[in-house]
Amino acid sequence: MKFYIKTYGCQMNERDSEAAASALAASGHEMVQDENNADILMFNTCSVRDQAERKALGKLGILIKLKKQKPDIIIGVLGCMAQRMKEQIIEKIPHVDFVAGTDQFHKLPEIVESTILKRKHIVAVDADSEIIENLSGHLNSKNQISAFISVMRGCNRFCSYCIVPYVRGRERSRDKKEILEEANMLVNAGIKEIVLLGQNIAAYGLEGRGQPTEESPFAELLQTLSGLDGLLRIRFTSPHPQYFNQKLIDAMASLPKVCKNLHLPMQSGSDRILELMNRHYTAKKYLSIVDSLKEKIPGMTFSSDIIVGFPTETESDFNETRRVMREVGYDNAYIFKYSPRSGTKAAEMKDDVPQAVKDERNQILLAALDETTGRHNKALVGSTIEVLVEGVSKRNSERWCGRSSSNKVVVFEPLPGIKIGDLINLEITRATAMTLFGK
Ligand code: 5AD
Ligand code: SF4
Repeated sequence: MKFYIKTYGCQMNERDSEAAASALAASGHEMVQDENNADILMFNTCSVRDQAERKALGKLGILIKLKKQKPDIIIGVLGCMAQRMKEQIIEKIPHVDFVAGTDQFHKLPEIVESTILKRKHIVAVDADSEIIENLSGHLNSKNQISAFISVMRGCNRFCSYCIVPYVRGRERSRDKKEILEEANMLVNAGIKEIVLLGQNIAAYGLEGRGQPTEESPFAELLQTLSGLDGLLRIRFTSPHPQYFNQKLIDAMASLPKVCKNLHLPMQSGSDRILELMNRHYTAKKYLSIVDSLKEKIPGMTFSSDIIVGFPTETESDFNETRRVMREVGYDNAYIFKYSPRSGTKAAEMKDDVPQAVKDERNQILLAALDETTGRHNKALVGSTIEVLVEGVSKRNSERWCGRSSSNKVVVFEPLPGIKIGDLINLEITRATAMTLFGK
C-alpha cells in the first residue's frame, strides 16, 4: 500500500519517521509525498509545546473530510503525542485508526497490517526495549550527503518544564558496534556527514551511573567514528551542559571531523531560574564550557535553546539571559515562550508571566540574535571558508549552496564539474544576517 508520513517537531522525530518509513518500505509498502495519493497516512507528533500539539490535532481533525471521501484510508498517530494521550486521541478524533507510541516505531509494519486485517482501532503505547537496536533503517536518496543516526533514546534529566522524560522514557544508549555498523553502511552509500542524535547525548553510555562523571563514552564514540574513511564531518545534538566535561571538550578540539559548531541549550541565564528549571548548572558553569571551546577551537560557533517567561521570571532574570547571550554571541538560537505541560513539575507553578511580556522578551532576544549573526557574518567578508557542497540553493536555482564546519550556509555560483559532496574553498564576498555569499 502507499503510505505518507508527516513529521512534527525535532530531528529525533525526523529520524524516527525515516527509520519507520524504511521498515514499512522493507515490508512491501511504498512511500509517497502527497497525502492525497496515500492509503495510509501517518503523523509523527511532538508534545514539547502546547502549540505543536494543537497543530497536529488541527490537522488530524480536518482529515475527517478525506476519510469521508475515502473510508478505506488508514490514519495513524505516532510519537510523543500518541504516547502522552494514548486512547484519548481516538476518543477525541474517532477517524484515527491507530495510535503508536514512542517505543513502537519498529513495530509499525505489524501495527499497519493488523489495522488492515482487523479494521478496528489499535492503541500501541507499551514501553519496548527492543526498539533500541531495531530502528536503524535509512531511506537511500540520491544526492543526500548528510544523515542522522540516533545513538540514544529517552531522557533522565527531568528539567521541570519538559515533557520529554514522560513521553520518551528513560535513557537507553545504543551499542557502539551497532552505531558503527550503521555509520559504515551510510558512508558506503555516499554519506559525507553524520549527525548524531540523542535527547541528552553527552550522557551517551552513562546509564546507571547516576550523576555525570569524569568519563565520556560519548567522546570515545566521536573518536571511533572519526576513524571512518570517507566520512568528512560529524555533528551532534543536543548535549546537556552538566555532562559537557573536559574529555568531551578535548575530543571536540582534537578531532578535525567533529564540526566547529555546538548546539548547547542554555534555557536561561539566571541562576535562580536555572535552579527552578532543575538544570543543575549555573550561568558561570555554562559560560566556562563555551569559553574553553572558544579558546581551543578558533572559529567555533554556538547555538542554543532559550525559554522566556518561565514562572516567576523577572526583568532582572531576563536581563541575565540577555547577558549570557551577549557573552556567548550565538549564531543561532531557538527561543521559546514557556508553555506549561501537564504532569511536569513546573506545571504546578503559576504560569505568571503575562503573554504580552513573553512576546516582548521573545522579540528582544530575536533582535539581539539578529544583530549578533549580522555582525559575525559581516566580519567573515573577505575570508576564505571551506564548505561541503549541498546542491542547488532553495531560493535561486542558478545558485548552489554549501555549509561550513561552523554551520554557516554559503551561497555561490557553481563552476562546471562541481558535485554535491565536494569540499571546496569559497571567498566570502557579501553577507546578510541569514546568509553568506561566496565565490
Ligand atoms: N515551554 C517552552 N519551551 C519548552 N521547551 C521544552 N519544554 C518547553 C516548555 N514547556 C524547549 C526547551 C527545549 C526545546 C526542545 O524546547 O528549550 O530545549
Ligand atoms: Fe527535556 Fe531537559 Fe531532557 Fe532536554 S535534557 S529533553 S530539556 S528533560
